[in-house]
Amino acid sequence: MTAPISERLDDVESARESGRRKMDWAAQHMPICASLREEFETDRPFAGERIGMAMHVEAKTAVLAELLAQGGAEVAITGCNPLSTHDDVSAALDAVDGVTSYAERGVDDEAYYAAIEAVLEHEPTITVDDGMDLVAAVHEDYPELIDTIVGGAEETTTGVHRLRAMDADGELDYPVFAVNDTPMKRLFDNVHGTGESSLASIAMTTNLSWAGKTVVVAGYGHCGKGVAKKASGQNADVVVTEVEPRRALEAHMEGYDVMPMAEAAEAGDVFITTTGNRDVIVEDHFENMQDGVLLANAGHFDVEIDLDALASIAADTYEARDGVRAYEMADGRRLNVLAEGRLVNLATPIALGHPVEVMDQSFGIQAVCVRELVENGDAYDAGVHDVPDRLDKEVAEVKLAAEGVDFDGLTDEQAEYMDSWQHGT
Ligand code: NAI
Repeated sequence: MTAPISERLDDVESARESGRRKMDWAAQHMPICASLREEFETDRPFAGERIGMAMHVEAKTAVLAELLAQGGAEVAITGCNPLSTHDDVSAALDAVDGVTSYAERGVDDEAYYAAIEAVLEHEPTITVDDGMDLVAAVHEDYPELIDTIVGGAEETTTGVHRLRAMDADGELDYPVFAVNDTPMKRLFDNVHGTGESSLASIAMTTNLSWAGKTVVVAGYGHCGKGVAKKASGQNADVVVTEVEPRRALEAHMEGYDVMPMAEAAEAGDVFITTTGNRDVIVEDHFENMQDGVLLANAGHFDVEIDLDALASIAADTYEARDGVRAYEMADGRRLNVLAEGRLVNLATPIALGHPVEVMDQSFGIQAVCVRELVENGDAYDAGVHDVPDRLDKEVAEVKLAAEGVDFDGLTDEQAEYMDSWQHGT
C-alpha cells in the first residue's frame, strides 16, 4: 500500500518548509479562497465528510485542499499527472491537519494508480478530479463506495468529455459538477491561464524567444484561443489548425493563418497542441518539419503528439536540456519535445502551472460546488450537472469586490423589460 509522501522523502522538514512558503505565497493572491476560508472556518460545512482529490499537486491546488480541510473535511489527495506534482508542496500539504497527500513527482504508472487507490481507501464521500481518474477508479474498482458518495466535481475539459460519454452510456452512478464548463472557469482558466502559463513554461524551459517565430496552435477552442492570442502578443506569427469549420473560420477572422497540419508542419518553428484529441501531430508531419522545431502539448493527455512514431523514425534521441528531449533524424534534423509530450505548462521541470489569480477562480468554483453537494446533494441525480449559475455569480462577485471593481445592477424596470416578450419598440 502506498504511504503518504512524508514517509517517502529524505529531508521532509526542509521539503515542508519550502512547500509551505509556496502555499503561503499563492494564498496571498487568492482572495476568493480567502473569503471562503472565513466562511468555512466559521460554518465548518464539511465536518464529517471525506474528500478524495486527484489534481495537479502544486501550490494553488494545495490552497484548495487546505481550504476544504479548514471547512472540516478529511482530505486525501494525489496527483492527476505523474510529472506535475511538486514534492515539497505535497509534503507541506501532508502536514496540514486533516490532509493526507500521496502525490509524488515522476512515479511510474503502477505507483501512480496505487496512489489513486490509496486515496480511495479513505472511502471518500466526495470526489474532486482533474481528468476523471477518481470517478473511473471508483466505478471500476470500488463500486461499493458509490452508495455513500454524495457527488463529485470535475476540473478539466477532457474529464468532462469522458464523464459525459460515461453518462450517455448510463454508466455514471453519482452526480458530478462540470466545473470546467462554467464561465468563471473556462473563460479565464482555459483561455488566459493556459495561454500565459504554456508560453511562459516553453520560454523558460528553452530560453528561446517568441518574436519572429511561426507558432502553430493545434485546436482553436478555449485553450487554443488563449495560446494563439498570447503568442501573437509576443510578436510571433500564428498558424491555427482546426477540424471544426466554425472554429477555423473564427481563427481566420481573427487574422491568423489557418491551414491543415500537413501544411503547417513545414512552416512552424513551435507547435503547441490544445485539442484534447489524439494523434494530432504524427509521422507524416514529423517528416516535413524543419530542424530545431519545438513540440509541446497543452492538452490534458500525452497522446496529441505521436511520440512512439517519432521515436521509431529517429536515428538518435538525447536530453537536449532539462525538460527537452531531442529526436535526431537520419538527415540531421532535430525535433525537440518538451515535457515528454505532457501538459507543458505543468510538466516541465520549472513549470508552475496557471497564474495564481486564475486558479483562485477555478478553485473558488470547486469549493462552492463541494459546499453545494454537502448542502443540497439530494437535489442532484446521478449524471453530469452544470454548475448552478448562482454559484458562478457568487464567485464572480467576490472576485470583483477583491479587485475593487464596482458594476451596475438592473433596475426593476430593466429586469421586467428583459423578462418580457410583450415589450417591442
Ligand atoms: P475545446 O473543446 O474548447 O477546444 C478543443 C478544440 O480542438 C476544438 O475546437 C476542436 O474542434 C479542436 N480539435 C479537435 N481535434 C482536433 C484536431 N485533430 N486538429 C485540430 N483541432 C482539433 O477544449 P479546451 O477547453 O480548449 O481544452 C482542450 C484540452 O486542454 C483538453 O484536453 C483540456 O482538458 C485541456 N486543458 C488544459 C489546461 C492546461 O492547463 N494545459 C487547462 C484547461 C484545459
